Amino acid sequence: MKFFVDTADTTAIAELNDLGMVDGVTTNPSIIAKSGRDILEVTKEICDIVDGPVSAEVVSTDADGMIAEGRKLAKIADNITVKVPLTWDGLKACKVLTSEGTMVNVTLCFSANQALLAAKAGATFISPFIGRLDDINLDGMELIEDIRTVYDNYGFETQILAASIRSANHMSDCAKIGADVATAPPAVIKAMANHVLTDKGLAAFLADIEKANIKIV
Ligand code: G3P
Repeated sequence: MKFFVDTADTTAIAELNDLGMVDGVTTNPSIIAKSGRDILEVTKEICDIVDGPVSAEVVSTDADGMIAEGRKLAKIADNITVKVPLTWDGLKACKVLTSEGTMVNVTLCFSANQALLAAKAGATFISPFIGRLDDINLDGMELIEDIRTVYDNYGFETQILAASIRSANHMSDCAKIGADVATAPPAVIKAMANHVLTDKGLAAFLADIEKANIKIV
């Protein structure tokens, strides 16, 4: 499973990238607003740090506006993925932009039907939002399973980019189901390293090291 980082924090992206933990980056208008930076400038900086796809989202809601914005975003760098919402206009924009050779990430997906339409429109990525379904007492992970089944039934090449990931468990659950990509905030990716037994085991080793005065260098 590929790891995308869901942030516009370039310091955090660079740190994870140096560790080989970054296969791509996703942003959205809320993330860009949080960064307080100009969308074109920060997106370019991110594209310079990572080799993989960098999602930058349009802000128009009509197809023509999305296509014009998508074309402008695509000029930032070769690894730009234009992100469009899963609306009828978004699907139209997806079709046009993908036919021009631009990678497209169709976002705000909350059903298998929506994912099916995005695949038919040629989306490079579909972004189902796990956490926001869980927030309303639905099962976000079940949606990932459903989309995996639908895409595998027909050999769709659209990649499942699991999004709105809120916990380390979401990451391993996505990997078990076979999501192609999971995008998560840096803190969630770092939390995957945590285990209480690792901490306990290390504390015991450290106590023994001190008692026996073990030194290596
Ligand atoms: O990748 C989508 C993500 O940014 C949304 O996450 O936690 O706001 O639902 P969240």
